[in-house]
Amino acid sequence: MKVFWQEEKLPLKKTFFGPKEPRFLEIGFGKGDFMIHLFALDSSSPLVGIEISKEMINITLRKLSYHPNIFLFHGDARFLLKYVFPYFLFEKIFMLFPFPWPKERHKERRIFEGDFINILWYSLKDNGKFYTVTDEEVFSQDTKEKFMNSGVFEQDEFEDFFRKKATETKYARKWRKAGKNFYFLCFKKIKEKKPKIEKKIKIINKVDHFILKNEKFKDNYEKKEEGRIFILKEIYFSESGKIFKFFVKEEILEQTLFFTLDKKRNFILKPLFKERIIFTEWILENLKKIFDF
Ligand SMILES: C[S@@+](CC[C@H](N)C(=O)[O-])C[C@H]1O[C@@H](n2cnc3c(N)ncnc32)[C@H](O)[C@@H]1O
Repeated sequence: MKVFWQEEKLPLKKTFFGPKEPRFLEIGFGKGDFMIHLFALDSSSPLVGIEISKEMINITLRKLSYHPNIFLFHGDARFLLKYVFPYFLFEKIFMLFPFPWPKERHKERRIFEGDFINILWYSLKDNGKFYTVTDEEVFSQDTKEKFMNSGVFEQDEFEDFFRKKATETKYARKWRKAGKNFYFLCFKKIKEKKPKIEKKIKIINKVDHFILKNEKFKDNYEKKEEGRIFILKEIYFSESGKIFKFFVKEEILEQTLFFTLDKKRNFILKPLFKERIIFTEWILENLKKIFDF
């Protein structure tokens, strides 16, 4: 079972998952109740899950006992599917009980805002299907409208098997107990249509270190431009050297980065936890303005 893509070159290739291509993806799998059924359905194909909560990943890892054919990714599905995963990969994508944000004033927080529907189109194979279920009628209507208005999906059948298993998750149990209704939605990709997506983030290969021309650096730096942010948050001085902390935001990708300048190797700027960092052109561009390299 892989939790992170770690040292892989991004975007991931189809071969990352092994000789067989994955068929199913579950987004926001929570405690993994539905994933178990997907795995029982076909344990010979890699099964993929994306979850933004580390705690849920840990719970699911324990349940699914680290099977090598299960790939769990920690992160935001909107970013991972757009920038990290290969396109045209999945037969079926499930997202059960996404946070509905039913109040009008919160509606821009709903998951299907922005370009996510078009990204789902690219993540699915030809004739691939997306399944979702919710307990909130307003959210269900809004979701249906958004998929139909996208022009790249049509409504399809939410088969009985998936319908039954989708109502056995933690949230399904919770909402059933509260006497709520379930609204099932299934959309099939229209393969002839090709939606436009704009990729603003340029991912670059992982960087091991930067060799600086001198020891100078700007100790106060902040850049905000077209929704992107790069801030030098803090410099920690210690006996062994300096540690720089940066906050970076591009689209929905937010990262906190640490770089070290070791006293003994003063001209070498090194990222800490580099396997967790997504290096981008924006990061490089701003580092160059702070340091001389
Ligand atoms: C209401 S819970 C439903 C959990 C599970 N599907 C169930 O039915 O019990 C929503 C889940 O989606 C996850 N989530 C929310 N936004 C996400 C995103 N953008 N990418 C991946 N997971 C997300 C949350 O962490 C949470 O576990």
